[in-house]
Amino acid sequence: MSIEHLLGKVHNCDCLEFMKQLPDKCIDLTVTSPPYDNLRTYKGFVFDFENIAKQLFRVTKDGGVVVWVVADATINGSETGTSFKQALFFKECGFNLHDTMIYAKNSYMPLTHNRYEQAFEYMFVFSKGRPKTFNPIMVNSKTAGTKRNRGGSKANESTYAERKREEQTVVADKKQACNVFFYDVGKNDKTGHNAPFPEELCNDHIVSWTNPGDVVYDPFIGSGTTAKMALLNGRKFIGTEISIEYCEIANKRIEAERAQLKLF
Ligand SMILES: C[S@@+](CC[C@H](N)C(=O)[O-])C[C@H]1O[C@@H](n2cnc3c(N)ncnc32)[C@H](O)[C@@H]1O
Repeated sequence: MSIEHLLGKVHNCDCLEFMKQLPDKCIDLTVTSPPYDNLRTYKGFVFDFENIAKQLFRVTKDGGVVVWVVADATINGSETGTSFKQALFFKECGFNLHDTMIYAKNSYMPLTHNRYEQAFEYMFVFSKGRPKTFNPIMVNSKTAGTKRNRGGSKANESTYAERKREEQTVVADKKQACNVFFYDVGKNDKTGHNAPFPEELCNDHIVSWTNPGDVVYDPFIGSGTTAKMALLNGRKFIGTEISIEYCEIANKRIEAERAQLKLF
C-alpha cells in the first residue's frame, strides 16, 4: 500500500487511528512531543500511550528512528517518572534505546525555589535495529590544531619513543557534537500553540537521522514545526493533530513555507 496520498499535510485525527491505516515499515523518522502528565491539558484530549508506541514500532522502517521529547510533572513533591516508564515500554515494543539525549533550555522560568530550576527535557532516541542513517552535527573543536600522541604498545621499549613520535596526530577543526543540545525557548511562540518545539530541535534531528526524500512523521504535530523543518530540508512529511484549531494553524504555516520556498 502506498502512502503517497497522505504525504505533505497535517491530518485532523487521532494519531492512533491514523497509524492503524498505515502499512508496516513506511516511516523513516518520527520526531514528536506528546502531551505529558497533564502538564498542559491540550483542550482535554487524552492519548493511549501503549498502543501508540506499538504502532510506532510497526510503521517505522528497519533502521528508522523515533525521537520522543518528554519531561515529567511533579505531583505531591515527586517527579512522576513517566518519561522513563515510557522509554522502557518502547524497549519492550522492540526498539533500541539508542540514546538518551537532553534538550537543555537556554532560559527557564524560576518556579520551584526548593530545588534547582527545571531547565531540560529528555529527547529519547529509539531505533528499530541499528540506525540506517546518521549524519552527525559537527561543532568547532576548542583544541583544533594541537598535536596529540596516540600512544603505543610498550612491548618493545627500544622502539616506543620513536613509534610515539610517528603516531602524533593533529586535532581536527571539527568534532561530533555531544548529546546535550541547547536551544532558546520562546522564539517560536508566534505559532499560536502553547508548547511549540524550537525549530532548531526539529531541524537537528531531521538532518541527523534522515536523508533528503525520506519520510518524517509527527503524530502530535501541534503547530506543525516538524513539517516546516522537514519541508525546508527536502524531506517528505506527514502530521496528525487531534485539535482542529491547531491543525489549521499547522496547515497554514506549511502553506506559508511552501510559498516562501517557491519565491527562492
Ligand atoms: C506538545 S504538543 C506538540 C507541539 C508541537 N511539537 C509544535 O511544535 O507545535 C502535543 C499536541 O498533541 C495533540 N494531541 C493530543 N492527543 C492527540 C492524539 N491522540 N492524536 C493526535 N494529536 C494529539 C495536542 O492537541 C497538542 O497539540
